[in-house]
Amino acid sequence: MTSGAATADVAVAEGRNGLAQARGEVVVLDYGGQYSQLIARRIRDCGVFSELLPHHVSIEDVRKRRPRGIVLSGGPASVYAPGAPRLERELLELGVPVLGICYGMQLLVHELGGRVEQADVGEFGRSDLTITEPGVLLAGMPSEQTCWMSHRDTVFEAPEGFTALASSTASPVAAVESQERSIYGIQFHPEVVHTPYGQEILTRFLTEVCGCERTWSPSSIVQEQIARIRKQVGDGQVICGLSGGVDSSVAALLVHRAVGDQLTCVFVDHGLMRKDEGEQVIGAFRDTFKVPLVAVDAEQRFLSKLKGITEPEAKRKAIGEEFIRVFEEEASKIAGQAGGGAEGVRFLVQGTLYSDVIESGGGTGAATIKSHHNVGGLPEDMAFELVEPLRALFKDEVRAVGAELGLPERLVWRQPFPGPGLAIRVVGGEATKERLDVLREADHILQEEIRKAGLYRELWQSFCVLPDVRTVGVQGDERTYGYVVVIRAVTSDDAMTADWARLPYDLLETIASRMINELREVNRVVLDITSKPPGTIEWE
Ligand code: XMP
Repeated sequence: MTSGAATADVAVAEGRNGLAQARGEVVVLDYGGQYSQLIARRIRDCGVFSELLPHHVSIEDVRKRRPRGIVLSGGPASVYAPGAPRLERELLELGVPVLGICYGMQLLVHELGGRVEQADVGEFGRSDLTITEPGVLLAGMPSEQTCWMSHRDTVFEAPEGFTALASSTASPVAAVESQERSIYGIQFHPEVVHTPYGQEILTRFLTEVCGCERTWSPSSIVQEQIARIRKQVGDGQVICGLSGGVDSSVAALLVHRAVGDQLTCVFVDHGLMRKDEGEQVIGAFRDTFKVPLVAVDAEQRFLSKLKGITEPEAKRKAIGEEFIRVFEEEASKIAGQAGGGAEGVRFLVQGTLYSDVIESGGGTGAATIKSHHNVGGLPEDMAFELVEPLRALFKDEVRAVGAELGLPERLVWRQPFPGPGLAIRVVGGEATKERLDVLREADHILQEEIRKAGLYRELWQSFCVLPDVRTVGVQGDERTYGYVVVIRAVTSDDAMTADWARLPYDLLETIASRMINELREVNRVVLDITSKPPGTIEWE
């Protein structure tokens, strides 16, 4: 991530998250390193709440949070370059322990009078670390270990009063500490898995140095959120648009735990879902969790809106608009039943995540969500107050909370599915019921086989695409003229980039022969081996 991306509106972020004051949080200041979010996530994995704030946040905003520790992230700059992000000296006078990682360490060393210079060779990737003096930070760890480095500038001398703790292949000083001043620095990245003792080092900083309690857990998140939602909503009525995705499902369940039947969920089945998915959502929410749920079968409405539309963005727009219309109709019915008027339902649940908050600069509501994610999301002109119980959570925490709340594994681990659904996967032509049904069946076979092979969770997304193309084949001595199904499976961390998944040949063969044998309309199956970039994940 770039430093420009992390310009969180601190007041808003604090007011809305408002979670950690009592238990003590750690503030991670983002100097633009590619792993900054990961540092915050790893700290939470240690059981300590952490927030990622831009490095230029004011001292007052840091102080307000009463952090137990401050972590300075890595970043691409050189500390001695003009205009490089600086360290506010006051930060070191708050009486709060500070840990600098990579650029963060160089910044501390440079600021406090040590020597940082460009080395002849950079150090990128795996490196050997030798601990010469464990200090507090590296105590109890093997004196020889591997770590992950990514830097060109190097620390040659620790500042006065600091102890050099370790060196590495290309770094004379790879870790420093001053117990007296409670300032620590490591050149390597403890947050990535290639540093085997990284999590232990972070844990030592959090517990031995900062004295944090490790109380941040799925169950504590649930308790805190329930209290927060109750406080916000009081006895008001709440609605939630349920899509079947993990975010809206977990958000809805949290709100239901908090305010019970004051919540009504609206599930708009636009007929563009995967096979059986609508039933699964309805089954889980209405039957298992007893959440008041209005399920609208709107397939006909959506199909008629899609008639004659072939252009991808026009499809998205038509679906988005129709979704809002259906949602509004249902919302006003619910408002009418709840005592009438606009006052009937005051709150709308939104599954905004912490990564949306960070990426969008911390604004509120619809503006925080990328435009295409708004499809199937928030009606823009409706006057609701937002309830955003996931606003402080990373995706993996949302899944953990879902599991804690008893959400079925299938929903907890569902791969991302686009709001416009299968309509943008019947490509190059109109989304007719006939084509959608063929795609749905092909997709069902793919999902079944991928799950059976135990690969579902490893893949970011796996799906089929149905181009508007027929090819000639021969089956049972007969000439056929049928559809081509494309298999698309990718691995990714965040959908910004993706790699095509190397599915085993035997699995591909099973999938292809099942599709051709079981689906009369299909006589050819192909595999998409395009990564992103240059391709996008979806075909439209
Ligand atoms: P692309 O195709 O741009 O997709 O590589 C990146 C991620 O976004 C999802 N996606 C959408 N999600 N509405 C959504 O809610 C959309 O219109 C839409 N288009 C793409 C896609 O599935 C992938 O996860």
